[in-house]
Amino acid sequence: MKLLTLAILGLWIQGNAHGEECAAREYGAGNMVCVCNATYCDSLPSQFNVPDGGFLAYVSSKDGRRFYNIAGTFQNTFQDGDAEAVFTVNQEITYQEMFGFGGAMTDASGINIASLSESAQENVLRSYFAPDGSEYNMIRVPIAGSDFSTHAYSYDDVEGDVELNNFTLAEEDIKYKIPYIKKAIELNSRNILLFGAPWSAPKWMKTNSQFNGAGQLKKEYYQVWADYFIRFFEAYAKENLHFWATTPQNEPIDGFIPNFSFNAMGWTNEGEANWVANYLGPTLEQSDYSNVNIMIMDDQRPFITNWADVVLTNENASKYVSGIAIHWYLDFLSNGSVLSTVHNNFPDVFLLYTEACNGATSHKVELGSWKNGEEYAHDIIQVTNNWVTGWVDWNIALDEQGGPNWANNFVDAPIIVNATADEFYKQPMYYVLAHFSKFVPQGSQRIQLSTTDNKGIENVAFVDPNGNTVLIFLNRNEEPVSAAVKDANHGVLNLNIEARSIISVIY
Ligand SMILES: *[C@@H]1O[C@H](CO)[C@@H](O)[C@H](O)[C@H]1NC(C)=O
Ligand SMILES: *[C@@H]1O[C@H](CO)[C@@H](O)[C@H](O)[C@H]1NC(C)=O
Ligand SMILES: *[C@@H]1O[C@H](CO)[C@@H](O)[C@H](O)[C@H]1NC(C)=O
Ligand SMILES: *[C@@H]1O[C@H](CO)[C@@H](O)[C@H](O)[C@H]1NC(C)=O
Ligand SMILES: *[C@@H]1O[C@H](CO)[C@@H](O)[C@H](O)[C@H]1NC(C)=O
Ligand SMILES: *[C@@H]1O[C@H](CO)[C@@H](O)[C@H](O)[C@H]1NC(C)=O
Repeated sequence: MKLLTLAILGLWIQGNAHGEECAAREYGAGNMVCVCNATYCDSLPSQFNVPDGGFLAYVSSKDGRRFYNIAGTFQNTFQDGDAEAVFTVNQEITYQEMFGFGGAMTDASGINIASLSESAQENVLRSYFAPDGSEYNMIRVPIAGSDFSTHAYSYDDVEGDVELNNFTLAEEDIKYKIPYIKKAIELNSRNILLFGAPWSAPKWMKTNSQFNGAGQLKKEYYQVWADYFIRFFEAYAKENLHFWATTPQNEPIDGFIPNFSFNAMGWTNEGEANWVANYLGPTLEQSDYSNVNIMIMDDQRPFITNWADVVLTNENASKYVSGIAIHWYLDFLSNGSVLSTVHNNFPDVFLLYTEACNGATSHKVELGSWKNGEEYAHDIIQVTNNWVTGWVDWNIALDEQGGPNWANNFVDAPIIVNATADEFYKQPMYYVLAHFSKFVPQGSQRIQLSTTDNKGIENVAFVDPNGNTVLIFLNRNEEPVSAAVKDANHGVLNLNIEARSIISVIY
């Protein structure tokens, strides 16, 4: 019966025609991870050989599919009633150009990778960066310590060292960040965009003399702190690692919250505008790192309208600003359309999601949670439909507790490492992100995908740099939905979108 339906729809199942299969393990009903170790790891297709006149689709679902491969052909005719949800794709109507997808190389990520045997380490990095992995093309790099470190530190903890004579990268950069970033670049066939963000200045530069808690940069150190950024880019450039962008500060609002538990430093929107206009902007411009883009805010979406209005209408600041960095944690408090409003007000400034994770309030790892994967997909589809140019996950690898984190701010991650067993677990979040990152590299462009009734199917469409059309559908409901996509250039594409599934289509 099912086979017959599929044949009528012009589909045939190929199964996982690519690489290795998922070595599935369940952690409670319906919670499945794929287990990798030193000798075994499932892989993703390293290329898409789209059949003439046809399309390829890859499905991952709550019931256990992981990049399950379907091929099909376009039909010539469409009759009302053939499908429950009808979409129309139009490659002529274009929106933002994409930067891509990625994750953060925090100290914790590096520490967890290092806790595995060398071959298992390689499998983690291949999973994210290799052509048969999810092919991330963006990496966020904390400038010195964050909460995802084993202790709080800066690159110059020598009090009063305004010349930065004692500036030096930390052991964490040397052991846990630089080697894995280099390896990622080596494995990757795309151009990896690195961007930085500091969590706090050295204690001695701050009003509260602490890494955490409510504290701001003391005025007398405004220039020294800008120089510190240059020293960081210089130190990484010596390792042949070149930064594409930076933000002035991770979550600047945290630094006004009394007793804030981890590394933070407060900037108001006006304060950030002033510091970018008079210190960071000119200092970068006059340095060898003048091509490093500045992205403002790096904080939650509900603040974006005000932040953009204040910083970007200050002409002395805005001339140095390329983008706005956004975190996903409070997305539920504001409508995604606020992103489009900001884009319309400041069309030359790009929007980029720079941090997201699950478990930020429960402080728990939920092995195999499909819902956590759905939350990633839901957010990515919503924000890319509102002019956002990319989406970067938080820690690429955490331990079973969701750390290490010196402030006990444990969270979840797409890859969880079990050092005792020398194995790691690829969660639904890993595959969901790959449904975007593999198909939508830098240089892709969003195109119009319209519908009068989506029947609950969340959707977004792109053209990739090779001219392929990419459609991504998310069904968070318990019922499958039959869908038809009309494409004036190709015909009608029929799909059965399974319950609780995500599907990426390419042609
Ligand atoms: C690694 O995973 C493979 C596939 O699941 C399994 O056959 C093998 O026994 C594992 N190796 C170790 C050392 O656990
Ligand atoms: C800081 O640098 C100065 C000058 O190079 C050096 O004399 C001093 O020992 C350093 N201090 C520390 C704590 O490393
Ligand atoms: C914050 O810290 C101060 C000083 O350490 C303490 O007196 C105060 O009770 C703390 N406030 C809260 C809300 O924990
Ligand atoms: C921008 O800089 C100029 C020259 O220093 C100054 O006159 C002007 O007031 C500044 N504008 C803002 C918005 O700060
Ligand atoms: C968000 O805003 C859009 C556009 O203004 C509107 O159509 C939609 O209903 C809003 N969504 C919610 C959940 O309020
Ligand atoms: C990690 O490995 C140890 C040793 O094999 C095992 O006892 C433990 O259950 C594993 N953790 C998980 C979450 O599977």
